[in-house]
This record gives sequence, C-alpha cells and structure tokens, in this order.
Amino acid sequence: MLTSLLQYGDGLVHRLRNWSKALFGKGTLLGIVTVGLFGAVIVGIVWAEEQAQEDPVAPIIKEVDKRCRDERIPMVGPERAVRLAELVRQQKPKLVVECGTAIGYSALWIGRELKKLGQGRLITIEIDEERVADAREYIKRAGLDDVVEVRHGDARELVKQITEPVDFLFLDCGYENYYPCLMGIKDRLRPGAIVVADNVGIGERGMRDYLKYVRQHFKSTTEWFDVDLPWAKRDAMEVSIVPEK
Ligand SMILES: C[S@@+](CC[C@H](N)C(=O)[O-])C[C@H]1O[C@@H](n2cnc3c(N)ncnc32)[C@H](O)[C@@H]1O
Repeated sequence: MLTSLLQYGDGLVHRLRNWSKALFGKGTLLGIVTVGLFGAVIVGIVWAEEQAQEDPVAPIIKEVDKRCRDERIPMVGPERAVRLAELVRQQKPKLVVECGTAIGYSALWIGRELKKLGQGRLITIEIDEERVADAREYIKRAGLDDVVEVRHGDARELVKQITEPVDFLFLDCGYENYYPCLMGIKDRLRPGAIVVADNVGIGERGMRDYLKYVRQHFKSTTEWFDVDLPWAKRDAMEVSIVPEK
C-alpha cells in the first residue's frame, strides 16, 4: 500500500515537471508552482463532485437547516443530529418511529443513516399538514422516500396503529405529548430498543411524567449538548434503553 502510494506520488511529481517544462520551459519554478496549483484545483473539484455523488442528502439537509433557522421552524440541529445518527448506526434498527417531523430535518439524518446501513425504515408523524407536505418533498428530493414514510396526524393516536416491533423511537413532538406517545407504543418496543427524547434541558418541566417513567423503568441517561441555534445555546436529550424482559 505504502509502496504504491510512494510510486503514485513519484509519478505525479514527474508528470508535473514534464507539463511545466512543456508550458514554461526548462525547470521554471513558476511553472512548477502554477501547474501544481492547477492540479490541486482539479483534484479539489473532482473530490467535491465525488462527495456530492456519495452523499446526495447533504445539500438537502443544508437547505432545510437554513430554512429552519430563517423561519424559526423547530429542528434538532446538527450537534444532536450527529448523536442521533450515531445511535441509529449502532442500533441497526429495522423500524424507527419519530413523533414530530416538522419539515423533515431529523428525518433526513435518520433516513440517510438507514440508507447507508442498507436496512430499516422510518415512520415519522407530524400533525401540521403544511409541514407534512414540505417534509415529503424534501425527503423525495433527497432520494429517501423508499426508507422514510411521513404520516399525517396526531402522534399520540397514530403510534397505536403501528403493529410491528419498534427498535428505535425518537420523541420530538411537544413536551407534554412524550408520555402519551410512549404509553401508546410501549408494548411494541423491542427489548433493547432505544428511546430518545429531545429538549430535555429546555422542556424538562413539561415532560416530568415522561422523565419519571423512563428513569424508573429504563436504563436512562441525560446527554447535554452545546448547540448553536437561534432559539437555544444548550439543551439535552434523554437516551433510554428498554430492558431485556
Ligand atoms: C420540535 S418540532 C420537530 C422537529 C424535528 N424532529 C426535527 O428535528 O427536524 C415539533 C413538531 O411536532 C409537531 N407536533 C406537535 N404536536 C404533535 C402531535 N400531537 N402529533 C404529531 N406532531 C406534533 C409540531 O407541529 C412540530 O412540527
């Protein structure tokens, strides 16, 4: 590996020297630097194009992030989304349920992770009709509509219609709704399932019933984050693991 890298580097320097000679005459320093810079720009463009092809979801996440900030649409934000995606990656869930889609920011992060894993799907529930339409559009544009399904309605009721085992639950739909959503889906949570609740820092008072329950019945940890959102600078997520029976 190292030998072939060295050989490749040696070949590249040789080629740069030849191109510079052809363009600027024998051994001009300016020529070598110019050709080198030109080469670096080309490599940069090719790399950026490859990245975009490898991750078609990234530009959509960027667009949704900007819109949420500009229009003050609530979203989990990148700091917690990175952790959310990491938990999904570790859990390798067959079914993820999200309560509170908004316009799809967290759904894009979760959906991208499922797509990378090559397994699993996300059912995400949103009560606001316009936000449902927007989320569906972003998810379609990101090429994730085969793994993410947006359902329209009250999550407290719709979770009861999910009959398959659930491996991962993300609660982000109004603090006082966390407890009823959990109660509505609790019996479908697999042993070892992960339940993540957002806004445990800024919304603790509104979700006391929920926090009391998960801290008593599940293995539960509060994770704090410094965030950079127009409406908050620090907040927490509660990460709870359903015990094996
Ligand atoms: C904090 S936002 C969700 C943000 C989203 N998870 C993200 O990170 O991009 C909360 C959303 O929950 C929705 N919501 C509130 N009550 C709900 C309910 N009972 N059922 C479903 N959605 C609800 C709101 O309309 C709002 O869009």
